[in-house]
Amino acid sequence: MIKITFIGYGNVAQQLLQAFLHNPAIKIQQIFVRDTAKAKVLDATIELISDWSQLTPADIFIIAVSDDAITEVSANIQLKNQLVVHTSGSVALDQISNHNRRGVFYPLQTFTKGKEIDFAAIPICIESEFSADLEILQKISKIISDKTFIINSQQRKALHVAAVFVNNFVNYLYQIGSEICQENQVPFSILEALIAETASKIKTLSPLESQTGPAKRKDHQTIDSHIDFLNADSTKQSIYKLLTQSIQENGKEL
Ligand SMILES: NC(=O)c1ccc[n+]([C@@H]2O[C@H](COP(=O)([O-])OP(=O)(O)OC[C@H]3O[C@@H](n4cnc5c(N)ncnc54)[C@H](OP(=O)(O)O)[C@@H]3O)[C@@H](O)[C@H]2O)c1
Repeated sequence: MIKITFIGYGNVAQQLLQAFLHNPAIKIQQIFVRDTAKAKVLDATIELISDWSQLTPADIFIIAVSDDAITEVSANIQLKNQLVVHTSGSVALDQISNHNRRGVFYPLQTFTKGKEIDFAAIPICIESEFSADLEILQKISKIISDKTFIINSQQRKALHVAAVFVNNFVNYLYQIGSEICQENQVPFSILEALIAETASKIKTLSPLESQTGPAKRKDHQTIDSHIDFLNADSTKQSIYKLLTQSIQENGKEL
């Protein structure tokens, strides 16, 4: 039985806890939160605490707090020789206080409160200071996911930057598309099939091979008419121009 304690109980901790909860190989031992009145834990066997001195030894402590709080929170764990991991894409392993054994357990997915997620398909990026700990992390990762990757802090940072481009920035572009539709009284849902096909085709083609559209074709009249259409919104217009230029320069390398 592997005993897991969570520090923090936000989006990631709640999703991970749900994924581990009913597995017979795992016992969720404690959850540390700043305010126990705010946290609703569905399983009565899990001890909810808000005092650092109440932490008891476990096989893994999973710190799932805001990136900026990881160092401070890890230093508050008063126990020694425990395996302490964080779940962040961008924080280096050595940002965890060095009075315990350090590691990372980063689920590479976007988590939103209340939106259930199937962990089996989520890549888990693990890293540890000591090789024996990597085995423990591999073991718990394989319980919830079919995809475990051993990734160092530098690679994880690169992955996180790439993830910001393919997730956060793409989602922001959806928002721009949605606003343009709304302003022109057309439903954004008409674009759903296009969005689905764009995401689907990069499973078989590289993003470079998948690219279509006026920038790739160098249809200058169409590009100019789009820039003119966006005249009233300088931010959207700048984004359009920058992405168009970048797509065109990208094509030149071939
Ligand atoms: N959300 C994602 O899509 C995602 C995906 C992969 C990895 N991650 C990583 O997972 C970690 C947690 O993200 P999240 O989305 O779960 O964040 P979140 O929903 O904002 O939850 C953060 C939790 O941290 C606690 N916390 C913040 N500062 C604290 C402090 N100084 N001491 C104790 N607890 C503190 C908060 O407690 P209160 O409720 O008391 O404020 C809250 O329970 C981050 O490192 C993030 O980079 C997030």
